[in-house]
Amino acid sequence: MGIPITLTVNGRSITREVTPQTTLVQLLREDLRLTGTHVGCDTAQCGACTVHLNGRAVKACSMLAVQAQGAQITTIEGLAPEGELHPMQAAFRQCHGLQCGFCTPGMEMTSVLLVKDKPGATEQDIRDGLEGNICRCTGYHNIVKSIQLCQSGKADATATSA
Ligand code: FES
Ligand code: FES
Repeated sequence: MGIPITLTVNGRSITREVTPQTTLVQLLREDLRLTGTHVGCDTAQCGACTVHLNGRAVKACSMLAVQAQGAQITTIEGLAPEGELHPMQAAFRQCHGLQCGFCTPGMEMTSVLLVKDKPGATEQDIRDGLEGNICRCTGYHNIVKSIQLCQSGKADATATSA
């Protein structure tokens, strides 16, 4: 017999029964099929599973689903209306802020709050803010450039690349 929980995910109220061991990322990926949230390590190190919980970035592999009772969750799928790009996504595309793309959903979820919480963030602030998100491909340079483009307000969802 599971534990009933109710939470809001991407604006939708969800009620589910979960086991005490079910992690938030399992609920999102395996039950709700929101597979844009990735699992890279399952040990709270890589940040691939980052989502927003009540406006804060959290690693969904390190939280139990029951701890999200009553919470407002946003995943990468909920960042922008269907068929549109969030300015951060547009900026990552313009600046080639990704290669394989595995880290990208978590990287963007962290970056969106980074820019929102500290609009005047310097390059060093951005690099520090990304320390919980690991990218094996890009060397971070273009990721930082992407975040700076979004920060400037000049990201263009219709542009393909810079
Ligand atoms: S999968 Fe959650 S931090 Fe790596
Ligand atoms: S783009 Fe491949 S892990 Fe970041």
